[in-house]
Amino acid sequence: KKYTVMLPAAGSGRRMGAGFNKLFLQMAEKPILIHTLEVFEKDEHCSGMILSVKITEKQKIEKMLERFGITKVKALVEGGEERQHSVAACIRAHQSGGIVLVHDAARPFIDQNVIRKLVDVAAEHGAAIAGVQVKDTMKFAPDGIVEETVDRSKLWAIQTPQAFKYELLKEATDKAEVDGFLGTDESMIVERLGHPVRIVESTYDNVKMTTKEDLLFGEVLLKRRQ
Ligand code: C5P
Repeated sequence: KKYTVMLPAAGSGRRMGAGFNKLFLQMAEKPILIHTLEVFEKDEHCSGMILSVKITEKQKIEKMLERFGITKVKALVEGGEERQHSVAACIRAHQSGGIVLVHDAARPFIDQNVIRKLVDVAAEHGAAIAGVQVKDTMKFAPDGIVEETVDRSKLWAIQTPQAFKYELLKEATDKAEVDGFLGTDESMIVERLGHPVRIVESTYDNVKMTTKEDLLFGEVLLKRRQ
């Protein structure tokens, strides 16, 4: 099944401490951004990509796409203050319906099988998100004092991609904007509509490149895959 992927890439990467957009950091001689885009460039089911970028980085990214032979980018739109705004900009730029995936440009290690499953489940049920079961013991502890140990068999750590029927995600985005609601992922704005969201089991290596340690892990993963 075909899908379009929206990739927010307009963050500043403060926690990486590189002093510039972390997506430009190199892993195995390519920027992190390119590693992520290559996954979709190679996937025959991906019919197009829409990226949101900082206006000041647009030219640099355009050059990068050309240099690394990324051809499926249909639009480069201006991102916003928060991630949700950057994703909303992508959603507005896409008008043709179908299944859309939202995926952090900072997650280069997403598995093709997980993508396929997400698209299938979203096509059938409207909304599907990638997640893994938590490994640690989880405690609810407001102010650092334990109130309760939570049953971890029911807890999932959520990643991207998150897949939706376009109309559903568009409605959720419009409502979030009208209400001034800011979520930490797209699922939250869809959950607000009362629409069920299904979890598709993903892999633990689908990490978001956030801090320096993630880069080390990323280098190891890339070596193992070569
Ligand atoms: O900062 P974090 O790694 O959680 O961001 C996840 C993704 O969202 C990254 O690919 C980042 O570039 C993007 N983002 C964005 N616009 C923002 C903040 C983050 O496109 N305002």
